[in-house]
Amino acid sequence: MKFAIIYTPFLEQHPHIIERAEEYFDSVLAVPIHGIRYEYQNDEPPKVMYKNTDLSEFDAVFPRLSGEDLLFSEQLIEILNESGPYVHMDSDSFSLSSNKFYTMKELSGSGVHIPRSIYTLSTETASEAARDIGYPVTIKLISGYGGKGIMRAKDDSELRPIIDTLEVFEQDICLQDFIENPGEDIRIVVIGEETYSYKRVGLEKEWRSNISRGGERREVDAPEAMREMAVRASKVAGFDICGVDIIESEDGGHIVEINASPGITEETSEVVGIDIPERMMKFVHSKALENRAREGV
Ligand SMILES: Nc1ncnc2c1ncn2[C@@H]1O[C@H](COP(=O)(O)OP(=O)(O)O)[C@@H](O)[C@H]1O
Ligand SMILES: [Mg+2]
Repeated sequence: MKFAIIYTPFLEQHPHIIERAEEYFDSVLAVPIHGIRYEYQNDEPPKVMYKNTDLSEFDAVFPRLSGEDLLFSEQLIEILNESGPYVHMDSDSFSLSSNKFYTMKELSGSGVHIPRSIYTLSTETASEAARDIGYPVTIKLISGYGGKGIMRAKDDSELRPIIDTLEVFEQDICLQDFIENPGEDIRIVVIGEETYSYKRVGLEKEWRSNISRGGERREVDAPEAMREMAVRASKVAGFDICGVDIIESEDGGHIVEINASPGITEETSEVVGIDIPERMMKFVHSKALENRAREGV
């Protein structure tokens, strides 16, 4: 069986995924997204080509994509879903996870907890909404990542200059209730029905707990209800595999983000005590087998 990982950019963690993939698949190909072309022609379904190889005919393709080249990446997920390979997300899921407030829209009313969130184009509406939510509020760029693009305001006088700045940069306004927490959150890695959790603790006096902002991973055994919520959210968002960011609060957790390509460094596996890439590849392989069996019928 054939497996390909498609990435932007290449990360240190990829060789480990590739090694694990080699344990389950007969052939493993690592493909930079910049080497890919889509081919559309009469009387043939769309193809995803890399050099002379048609990836649409592979058994499984594992996209590890950042928000760069968003429109191109969105089409990749669509074509893969419409053709042969198993891919761990639905057609819309990548777009959804690349846009925090699209994620909030999909999750709202689905039975999982999210912080109250407001999406608007109007400065006046934003001020009113922030007062209604109650300060402090977070202000997020729709496609921020790694803790970049999130701000906090404790009153109107802090909010207004931030919103004016967003206007200069032609950014939509996304407000969210700030969930009080001690500078930490919980990352739940969902693989099918399985969940693996760890805590991320931010630097001293830092309220963003992202690893890329200096946060540290710590062991945590997330409560069952939180794990169930993460699995539910990933299903609503159309993912078999994803990373769900949850801020713990008195009334249970609040989901703030779903990540299509959660970090799976060796340190992540050490903290969790499980070889996460191995579990992922095992899962992807079993899904690819199911696909084959279905096609064989
Ligand atoms: N509503 C919120 N209340 C409190 N802290 C938040 C909230 N949303 C995000 N954070 C903090 O900011 C970090 C980054 O936010 P997140 O929405 O996950 O964006 P990113 O894509 O940058 O990781 C989170 O890990 C969390 O520590
Ligand atoms: Mg996050």
